[in-house]
Amino acid sequence: IPTVIIDEHGAMARVVAQRIATLMRERSAAGQTLVLGLATGSTPIGVYRELIRLHREEGLSFRHVVSFNLDEYYPMRADSIHSYHRFMWENLFSHVDIDAANVNIPDGSLARADVDAACAAYEAKIVAAGGIDFQLLGIGKTGHIGFNEPGSGEHSRTRLVHLDSITRRDAAADFFGEENVPREALTMGIATIMAAREVAILATGEHKSGIVRRSVEGEIDRAVAATFLQRHPNTTFYVDDAAAVDLT
Ligand code: F6R
Repeated sequence: IPTVIIDEHGAMARVVAQRIATLMRERSAAGQTLVLGLATGSTPIGVYRELIRLHREEGLSFRHVVSFNLDEYYPMRADSIHSYHRFMWENLFSHVDIDAANVNIPDGSLARADVDAACAAYEAKIVAAGGIDFQLLGIGKTGHIGFNEPGSGEHSRTRLVHLDSITRRDAAADFFGEENVPREALTMGIATIMAAREVAILATGEHKSGIVRRSVEGEIDRAVAATFLQRHPNTTFYVDDAAAVDLT
């Protein structure tokens, strides 16, 4: 995976936000929509902050953006403080001019019996929107992208999954205890992510250095979902100095 090492994560956020802004401007100049695949977690917050700044100070408009988020905990009500709906509105959508009708996030409040149909409908909606033009990703310590934990296959699509115990432990502080972290989540699959025309995967901090190395230099293997990106024709891995220390 082509890797770009940027010393400091603020600088990384600006580079990635500029790429997204360029795509947004090109599409809106042509009167077309841009389909963004978006992630939550701590890593993309700087990118969202920079996009908000570009909206406020440079008039960057989200009116032609359609977004699809990667994942959501299950079960999870949209109005919960832990929901990824809440996260996205607080960290990006409320601060820009996106049309709420163009925002798509998996619905963690569905009844179990309705989940499969909703996952298929999510996939169909991505296709109907023209496919994802640009997918933003973080990476978990298990190597997950979205919530595709170890064992996720290359042909996986949006579905309900069990969260790895390492992932649940990493989320424990946010939920005031591991026992409160949901055991399941809805996530786009590996195949959904691989269909994006361009992918930017971001990792910052020393705690990510081992999994960055495994993802970039290791064998392609369903034990580490991010390794599948080695087969993607247009992916860039952005890492800061700390996350790059194990790269050879
Ligand atoms: C979030 C997501 C996850 C995170 C990953 C890293 O929507 O899909 O794969 O990107 O867990 O999380 P942070 O950035 O908090 O280290």
